Amino acid sequence: MRRSKIVTSEAALVEYLPGDVTEPIDLRQLFPAAAPLEVDLGCGDGSFIAALAASHPERNYLGIERLVGRVRTACRKIAAQRLSNARVIRMDIAHAAACLIPPASVEVCHVMFPDPWPKRRHHVRRTVTPEFLRAINRILVAGGLLRLTTDDAPYFEGMQAAAAAVPELVPVGNENASLPRSTFEERFVGSGLPIHRLVLRNVPPPR
Ligand SMILES: C[S@@+](CC[C@H](N)C(=O)[O-])C[C@H]1O[C@@H](n2cnc3c(N)ncnc32)[C@H](O)[C@@H]1O
Repeated sequence: MRRSKIVTSEAALVEYLPGDVTEPIDLRQLFPAAAPLEVDLGCGDGSFIAALAASHPERNYLGIERLVGRVRTACRKIAAQRLSNARVIRMDIAHAAACLIPPASVEVCHVMFPDPWPKRRHHVRRTVTPEFLRAINRILVAGGLLRLTTDDAPYFEGMQAAAAAVPELVPVGNENASLPRSTFEERFVGSGLPIHRLVLRNVPPPR
C-alpha cells in the first residue's frame, strides 16, 4: 500500500504540464540532461516509451496522449522504473507537433497504431495527413526519422499517399530497427495480423 502511494506521487511528476500551450516548450525543463529526443505520438499506456527509456538511458523520450487514464498509466509505468529520461504530456498530437514541440528538436518520431477510422466518412478524423506530416517534418532534426506503424492496410495506403505529398520526407528501409513492441503491437501480432511499417527520413533541401 505504502509503495503504491509513493509511485502515485512520483507518477504525477512524470506528467509535464506546459505553462503556455501555444508556445514551444523548453526541453531543458523536462529532462535532467540534454540528449537526443524521441517522441511517441499517441503513446497509449506508455509501454513502448517506458521500455525504450529503460534500455536507452542516454536518450530522452516524450509521450503525447490525449486520454487522461492512459496518461496516468503511462506515468505510473515510468515512475515505477524511476526513469528520469521519459515524460508524458496530455495533449492532442496534431497540436503538439504543430505548436508545442520545438522546431528541429526530434531525432525520431513514433506513431504506433494511430486510430484507423475505417468508415470512409470518418477518414477526415485520421491523424496522418499531409498537413500532419509537414508538422512532423518541422520538428525533426535534419536526417530525423518518422516511424509509422499500423495493422490497417487501407490506412497504410493513406499514409503512403500522404507521404507522397510531402517531398521533404523520403521513404527509407526499416533496417536496424530493434524496437520493443507497444501494447497494441503485442495484441495485433498475437492475433496473427500483419503489421505495416513506413519509415520516412527528413531530407533537408539542397543549398
Ligand atoms: C490504437 S491506440 C495505440 C496506442 C499505442 N501507440 C500502442 O501502440 O499501444 C491509439 C492511441 O492514440 C491516442 N490518440 C488518438 N488520437 C489522438 C490525438 N489526436 N491526440 C492524442 N492522442 C491520440 C488514443 O487515445 C490511443 O491511446
